[in-house]
Amino acid sequence: MRKITVPTFRYPGGKSQLSSIICKYIPLRGRKFVDVFAGRGNITFRAMAEGLDYREWVLNDIGRAPFLRALMNYGDQFKVTEKSKAEFDRLSKLAERNDPHALLMEPFLAFNGGTFDGGGSTTEGGRGTPERYEENVRLACEFLRKHKVRITNLDWLDCLEAEKLGPDDFVMVDAPYIGCEVGAYSAESICPTELIEYLKLAKFNWVLTEYRQPLYVEAFGEPIFEKKVQLRAPNFEDTAGQGIRIECIWTNIGKSAINRDAVTVPFEPVPDDPKDTFYSDLAPEELLGEIRKCAAAITAARNQMNKEMRTRLLPALLELRKRTYRKHPGYYETLAAIGLPADTVRQWFYRSHTADEVIELVEEETTPSTFEGRGGTPPPDVETELLRHADKIAKAVLDNKITFAKRLATEYLRVREETRD
Ligand SMILES: C[S@@+](CC[C@H](N)C(=O)[O-])C[C@H]1O[C@@H](n2cnc3c(N)ncnc32)[C@H](O)[C@@H]1O
Repeated sequence: MRKITVPTFRYPGGKSQLSSIICKYIPLRGRKFVDVFAGRGNITFRAMAEGLDYREWVLNDIGRAPFLRALMNYGDQFKVTEKSKAEFDRLSKLAERNDPHALLMEPFLAFNGGTFDGGGSTTEGGRGTPERYEENVRLACEFLRKHKVRITNLDWLDCLEAEKLGPDDFVMVDAPYIGCEVGAYSAESICPTELIEYLKLAKFNWVLTEYRQPLYVEAFGEPIFEKKVQLRAPNFEDTAGQGIRIECIWTNIGKSAINRDAVTVPFEPVPDDPKDTFYSDLAPEELLGEIRKCAAAITAARNQMNKEMRTRLLPALLELRKRTYRKHPGYYETLAAIGLPADTVRQWFYRSHTADEVIELVEEETTPSTFEGRGGTPPPDVETELLRHADKIAKAVLDNKITFAKRLATEYLRVREETRD
């Protein structure tokens, strides 16, 4: 059997397949190599295997740091245990307490290399045989120790700020993809426009991977690499129904400054109510200009809000919690007294009816009927099909995909109407 030269670990959104291409765009040497959304470390392991020469290596991940630490600290002693439902249940409890053996078994036992709590056990035999998997773990441990890797579990921006990066440093940016809900982590745990703005001003070298998203093309231009991929993870939002995505790579390496003003716009107050004919009187170019201005202002406001929370509200709240510990009035009373109960904070993030309408207006109407049969006509067993469809609506509502839920509901009502006796 061929010896493993690069450790790879299954993971939703994991880059073991793409890592050799990604490495082609990374500078061969430098000061710090920071994999800021490291996941199971697949890109870093490839970079190490290819002999990239960096003085410091940092693996950061808000969710997978305990797995990476278990690899580094216990990988040399690891032995695969049996693959059974009982073992899955036992280890998933232990993993909650960061038990290193349980964490190291996770990619082997959990569906698609995800987490124990993120989608059930695998039926695919994990990473091949137990022997192969153990070899992967041991080699990964060797790599991490040899390069004296620092493992952190910070939010991406805190990590990058703490590292004080400059032109000799490299950052790998493989953030959760827009619209991906894979169980092991959520797309909502980063704000893409905030990431874009940060990368635009970055003084360090970076490589970014994402599907072809207009937001990124607008910010960074055409990607330097594209590849069509067939979706495998069942939880990726796939309203187009084709299951095809274009995997892309962007980088700032070799570019001096990328269109730096696109996201930050000067603050312009919303004008007083324009007269009824304001929009119908606009020339086509003026109308597009108005839409562009609004989009940029909304992006800037959103980024500003994130900045307020990260740099002012969060540290201030932490300080207040410290000061009010075991005091009267306590932390929650003090907050309520200044009008900041949790409900207020929650409602900052509610999506308004107008936002839903805007999404509806910008979303292409390409969703094919989710009813079986030709041309969206229901199959003979309409009741079963309607029930199946209702399940989908319920799931979309619970996942907070309101626009998609509404579309499904419209279709549901159309079929109900057509099939009524
Ligand atoms: C696409 S995966 C990375 C996969 C990795 N490159 C690999 O090949 O294994 C994205 C990772 O980002 C992490 N993540 C999500 N939000 C984060 C945040 N705000 N800061 C840091 N890491 C985050 C998730 O835990 C997840 O492991």
